[in-house]
Amino acid sequence: MQLFKLRTKLHQFNTFGDFAKEFDLGKNDLVITNEFLFEPFIKPLNLPCHFIMQEKYGVGEPSDEMMNRILTDVNHLNYKRIIAIGGGTVIDISKLFVLKNVADVTNAFERKIPIIKDKELVVIPTTCGTGSEVTNISIAEIKSKHTKLGLADDALLADDAVLIPELLKGLPFRFYAASAIDALIHAVESYVSPKASPYSQLFSKEAIGLSLDIFKNIANKGENYRFERLGDMLIASNYAGIAFGNAGVGAVHALSYPLGGAYHVPHGEANYQFFTKVFKVYQQKNPTGSIVALNHLLAEGLNTSTDKVYENLDAILAKMLPKKPLKEYGLKNTDIDVFTENVINTQQRLLANNYTPFTKEDIRNIFKELY
Ligand SMILES: NC(=O)c1ccc[n+]([C@@H]2O[C@H](COP(=O)([O-])OP(=O)(O)OC[C@H]3O[C@@H](n4cnc5c(N)ncnc54)[C@H](O)[C@@H]3O)[C@@H](O)[C@H]2O)c1
Ligand SMILES: [Fe+2]
Repeated sequence: MQLFKLRTKLHQFNTFGDFAKEFDLGKNDLVITNEFLFEPFIKPLNLPCHFIMQEKYGVGEPSDEMMNRILTDVNHLNYKRIIAIGGGTVIDISKLFVLKNVADVTNAFERKIPIIKDKELVVIPTTCGTGSEVTNISIAEIKSKHTKLGLADDALLADDAVLIPELLKGLPFRFYAASAIDALIHAVESYVSPKASPYSQLFSKEAIGLSLDIFKNIANKGENYRFERLGDMLIASNYAGIAFGNAGVGAVHALSYPLGGAYHVPHGEANYQFFTKVFKVYQQKNPTGSIVALNHLLAEGLNTSTDKVYENLDAILAKMLPKKPLKEYGLKNTDIDVFTENVINTQQRLLANNYTPFTKEDIRNIFKELY
């Protein structure tokens, strides 16, 4: 059994300028980013790179259609390296463009074409949750399937991941909160995954400790506290990415994908709706496995007792992001069965990482109770 891998080199810089100099950005580089990052941080450097602004190709999280529109513009450019600067959306889009001979990304997501790496990839996350800078996954809504699908392949791994906390200064709190909660979920789901090893758990554990400490302080001191800890939250997210890149995430992510795909709920927010409910069901079904150690970790991080961790977590997270009944996102009663089938049919990759197996009834009940 492989215990652990980390192929991506990790770097940290104080400013974007320091990074651009060290990495010698030039005419063979394709930078994929957003206008709001380009204007303040990149434009003043007058770099001779190719630039793509993601928001010109569509709003919201990636879809196969959005990626294909970018592909049309990217395919005639001459570049050897991709520099992805943005949140999970920009990063997951950029990952597809390292591949050889892609004319339609849907074929890559459905694995109808060989997945062969052809370009270098440098990733600079500007949110603090996805960990996508160190994972081999790209996630997109596949329009024809009405859900999100992940393509997991080592060809998508970044060669370099670069942490630059100053880039997060303009990140609005609601996006910060959704992504930071996603990081905690990556750490917690991977900690109890059957693929977890003592090495992946080391990273999960550190990510849980760091992020809970930051969240408690935000709950007490208010949202501006985040600015004091942007570097720490980026590291927590990166640790969680390393953990879940090795051990995987499970039911929380699996159940959230139809909600994200069909009703365009942002990824971190969608996960958050299922987080503690899934863990309460895990606890009921199998109270004696690695969830015991997880509950101790959470109790320590939250200053509470192990029997109160999920209520306590709900209370702290509710100060960052509202939790809503699923119908408030537009979910219809009939979606409960549709989503259940959808999870069973399209998310086996993730369900295989569950702490304990879920039956179709377990999944249906969770949708029903959160409805
Ligand atoms: N590949 C993986 O391993 C992995 C893991 C988790 C999530 N994801 C995917 O990542 C996506 C979500 O990523 P996310 O949570 O980072 O959100 P995001 O990239 O969609 O960004 C959220 C919003 O914040 C804006 N934004 C990003 N950085 C900013 C900054 N520094 N300043 C101001 N605004 C900024 C974006 O333009 C967007 O409007 C989803 O599609 C999800 O499926 C991928
Ligand atoms: Fe996630």
